[in-house]
Amino acid sequence: MDGRDLVRSVKAVGYTGAAQGLRTIRAAWRRRRADAVGLPPRGAERARVPGPVQSVEPGPGGGIIRFGRSELRILVAVNGAVFWGWDGAGPEPSYALAGDCPEPDPRAVLEPDKDGGWRVVAERATVVVSRHGAVEVCTPGGVTLRRDLPPRWWEPVGGGSARWMQRSEVASDARFFGLGGRASGPRLRDGTYRLWNTDPGLAFGPADDPLYITMPVQLVVADAGTHLVFHDNSWDGSVTLREGEEGAGSGHDRPGTSVLRMDGGPLRCWMMVGTPARVLLAWASLTGAPALPPAWALGHHHARWGFGSEQEVRRIVTGYQERGLPLDALHLDIDHYDAHQVFTVDQERFPKLPVLAEELRRDGIRLVSIIDPAVSSAPDNAVYSSGTGEDAFVRDAQGRVVRGVVWPGDAVFPDFTHARVREWWGGLYEERLAQGFSGFWHDMNEPTSFTAFGESTLPRSARHSLDGRGGDHREAHNVYGLCMARAGYEGLRRVAPEERPFVFSRSGWAGMQRYGGTWSGDVATGWPGLRASLALVLGLGLCGVPYSGPDIGGFDGSPSPELYLRWFQLGAYLPLFRTHASLRAGRREPWEFGAEVLEHARVALVERRRLLPYFVTLAHLARRTGAPYVRPLWWSAPEDRMLRDCEDAFLLGDCLLVAPVLHPGADRRAVQLPRGRWYDTSTEQVYEGPAQVLVDASLARIPVFARAGAVVPVRGDDGGLELEVWAPARGRTGGGLVVPDAGDGWDEPEIERYVARWQGRRLVVEREGEDGVSEPLHPVRVRGLGKRQAQT
Ligand code: GLC
Repeated sequence: MDGRDLVRSVKAVGYTGAAQGLRTIRAAWRRRRADAVGLPPRGAERARVPGPVQSVEPGPGGGIIRFGRSELRILVAVNGAVFWGWDGAGPEPSYALAGDCPEPDPRAVLEPDKDGGWRVVAERATVVVSRHGAVEVCTPGGVTLRRDLPPRWWEPVGGGSARWMQRSEVASDARFFGLGGRASGPRLRDGTYRLWNTDPGLAFGPADDPLYITMPVQLVVADAGTHLVFHDNSWDGSVTLREGEEGAGSGHDRPGTSVLRMDGGPLRCWMMVGTPARVLLAWASLTGAPALPPAWALGHHHARWGFGSEQEVRRIVTGYQERGLPLDALHLDIDHYDAHQVFTVDQERFPKLPVLAEELRRDGIRLVSIIDPAVSSAPDNAVYSSGTGEDAFVRDAQGRVVRGVVWPGDAVFPDFTHARVREWWGGLYEERLAQGFSGFWHDMNEPTSFTAFGESTLPRSARHSLDGRGGDHREAHNVYGLCMARAGYEGLRRVAPEERPFVFSRSGWAGMQRYGGTWSGDVATGWPGLRASLALVLGLGLCGVPYSGPDIGGFDGSPSPELYLRWFQLGAYLPLFRTHASLRAGRREPWEFGAEVLEHARVALVERRRLLPYFVTLAHLARRTGAPYVRPLWWSAPEDRMLRDCEDAFLLGDCLLVAPVLHPGADRRAVQLPRGRWYDTSTEQVYEGPAQVLVDASLARIPVFARAGAVVPVRGDDGGLELEVWAPARGRTGGGLVVPDAGDGWDEPEIERYVARWQGRRLVVEREGEDGVSEPLHPVRVRGLGKRQAQT
């Protein structure tokens, strides 16, 4: 048992008593025994490389290249994405893909290259394969974006899945992003990143890795171009990254390197090249459009582990209402369950939950329920009986149901990789809807099972359906949360077809955006935790998951008033704006930190409500284009190296630049502005980028800038939509998109396109439609007129 295991098991005992501690010891032994008999022994292995090229077989979008000891299949798809797979691996089956594999691009053909190699020339990329199996992807101009050396395999002599290793090189100026949610990001420094979804067990900081969501998705930004590479393989593995160096050694550049090692599964990958926006568009077309949250989910949420009664919930809600603070959702954690059992309600402490929910709803506040996957195996538990009847629970290699330990004590785990089990589970959300819940917060789905020693998850030998293919937890682990999200989302589509499901999930994998979003998990209270919060949201957005946000104030302990406020101010500009904390943590209500913090938090809350139409527009654009709401500063200028290394500010859509305060004691901060004219939104002061500017960041605010020419849809004083237009520079035009949305349901709103242009000394704002320009559909307020340029 290492120190962390010990602390974790002590924590589990601390929260749920000594009996739980004993259970975690028994569960740890059970897990160890299950794997001792259920896993194939790691015997002798044979090393292999592809060998020399022998023949080719052209096919649609590319073809097959045969080597002495392996074969490589290449396929360029119509969306511009390039697929290649070794050893017979094709794009399917895949948990990441949204539907069938995209059609091959008939224009892409396999043709001979120099030195006995082959290449496939496509519109956006050329794939060059050397005689020994190195694969290079180049821009149409011939600049190399990524070069994979021939892969290596280690095959068990007695048969079974081979381990493999893929070493790749990128440009010496390249920066790596992605790999799921990484607290040390968004720029991924040199080091090894494991691909195994993990509950850190304790509140985590930037040094903790891996976390709940890992993904073999790298977004690489270099002067030559941006690319996204996805190794479609859910097994345990690791990526070792090393940034390159320009003019290293004897004046030569040293390339950046990525070494991917996988414990099994197919060696296959997808690659997309182009601008960041194009790459994310292709990624969303491959893995699915992000689910559109209902508008209320883009407001303010308040959660807490420990809202143990109806009275407590009412006290919090009244606290918001009496102070005139906007609140859109309240979350109930495991303490509203009966003895911590999922899909139950403690009738003593919440005697009339549907009535409470209805009253809150009338006041514009939705209830959100936590959903844990583990089902108590107590004999009188109804979900356990019904799941047993469905044969829904994961079994071990001997055919016995796997028992672990989670909040309710001994528990069993649905096999969400089985379509029938997903359907059964999805039906259970009907009970939640009847209790009055509107949204669902999936937790503990790495999956986590408390254990006194060893890994706090299911045995690796545990059996899973894998949608009929059959396999074990080594392959199913990383897609467990994704499949649970699918079960919940699809169940809600069936039982409440008129509403947009709101699901967010702690764990997940590539493609999870199809079913909803995520949150930080148990981020540690402290300034490093605040910085990690932003890193996670940015990194996940670049992996195609645009909706997320942190536990404001951090999960554990008690933030100082200053830290709480800075977290709150940042959260107000992130998609999921939610305060949450652990059972034993200090308070998190905005009024618990003194009058000054309350007034500044009020400003942040009111501003978030004002920006709601903008957030709704960003949600629609994310669904249509895959572009995250929260983007790194280099999003539209990836060639700007200064921006590439800037990690303390972000773009919110095309219009705003947010510069949160991430350090204590700040009353000013430096902000790196991209090219173009920017307005400080609180003073309307003008700045010309690219520049580094020093601006006021007193406790009252975090700096937010608007891009000149931006059209920002906001909520006016009367609750209606208004257009806030930031004056373009003289001689320039501006514009933007607005998606007016009813807030819920499936009606497709028509996207409105606005342009702002100077006519003499007058700024004219018009709507552009198919049949010409017309008056805007909403009142217009122009800002930034007549302000002096700041001295920078
Ligand atoms: C996990 C979740 C946390 C939740 C707690 C109790 O630690 O990450 O958000 O409050 O479980 O359910």
